[in-house]
Amino acid sequence: MNISKKAEYTAPSETLSISAKCKELKKQGLDVVNLSVGEPDVDTPQHIKEAAISAINKGFTKYTDASGILELKEAIANKLWEDNGLKYETQQIVVSSGAKHSIYNSLLALCNEQDEVLIPTPYWVSYSEMVKLAGGRPVVLPTNEDTLKLTPQDLERAISDKTKGIILNSPQNPAGIVYCEDELLALASVIKEKGLWVISDEVYERFVYDGRKHISIALFIPDQTIVINGTSKTYSMTGWRIGYTAGDVNVIKAVSRIQSQTTSNPCSISQYAALSAITGPQGCVEEMRLEFDKRRRFIVERLNSISKIACQMPEGAFYAFFSIKALSLNSEEFSNLLLEKANVAVVPGKAFGAEGFIRLSYATSLSNLEKAGDRIEAAIKIL
Ligand SMILES: Cc1ncc(COP(=O)(O)O)c(C=O)c1O
Repeated sequence: MNISKKAEYTAPSETLSISAKCKELKKQGLDVVNLSVGEPDVDTPQHIKEAAISAINKGFTKYTDASGILELKEAIANKLWEDNGLKYETQQIVVSSGAKHSIYNSLLALCNEQDEVLIPTPYWVSYSEMVKLAGGRPVVLPTNEDTLKLTPQDLERAISDKTKGIILNSPQNPAGIVYCEDELLALASVIKEKGLWVISDEVYERFVYDGRKHISIALFIPDQTIVINGTSKTYSMTGWRIGYTAGDVNVIKAVSRIQSQTTSNPCSISQYAALSAITGPQGCVEEMRLEFDKRRRFIVERLNSISKIACQMPEGAFYAFFSIKALSLNSEEFSNLLLEKANVAVVPGKAFGAEGFIRLSYATSLSNLEKAGDRIEAAIKIL
């Protein structure tokens, strides 16, 4: 049976397939250090689990409004106001099955056939595939060679009469970039002038370091911004699948319609868990952030102590993105070598549109990071 062109042109998620490979090797008894996954290593906090158990016991196990339960949308509106200074009514919010789903639904609501959507490099692996699935055309944008940040000049140069929007991600996966207020203002001014929409993916907002503060570009261009966030990373709830979208009421209505005809509501039990996460004690998030900060400093120093690789200090998220440009292997060859010969799983920069780099997640124990550092060093020595 033939599959559709759409399916044929959709690349598999590289990070998920490396993770699967890793699990397979572990099953064979190999001591693999898996630094490929993008999820916190701690368990979901107990009070969140209890909220889910209580939701089950109370019988909240049926369909909900397709766009999510009102209490959760109210909690999200409060959070966006208190944490981000963004004012939204509940009709401007829709809850989906993870931020990935929120982004995809937003693209379905915004893209017409062949609309160009700008994606600055390096980018999260799923953006370009989701744009294609939604019928748009992903246009990958070069960024500053040193900072890996998008400049207003590069943005302006890339805009054509087919450009409809841009996907911005700060704090960013894979390089841990965080755009500051001035940088966002400068980008917002170009986006405003050109009348583009922006999907602002803010799922790592709580993981910023060295006194930085996450700022949403929606503060400057609220009418043109679709804010995406979720509970996966912040509350270590990757398996619960709750994400949300906030923005222009017409776009949100369109997202809700699309959702109502495809997946219907996100899991009712997970919605109550997310409600508890967002309205409950936030100490668990700060604990995680402090722990990630320790690991960030450790792994970046360790990587920079190894000859021929170089790593800039990430400003946010929980990934280190190091350069292997001084080695004779490309990023895929090097990550295969690390997995097969050193039992360390990482993700090649190529998957993020940045050849010459490797991404590793430091959301794992310090002892795993120590082991990985030693193994990477040994693997490079014998090259
Ligand atoms: C930048 C970015 N956005 C969105 C997501 C998806 O998050 P969720 O688990 O809520 O779908 C990820 C997950 O890795 C991510 O790195």
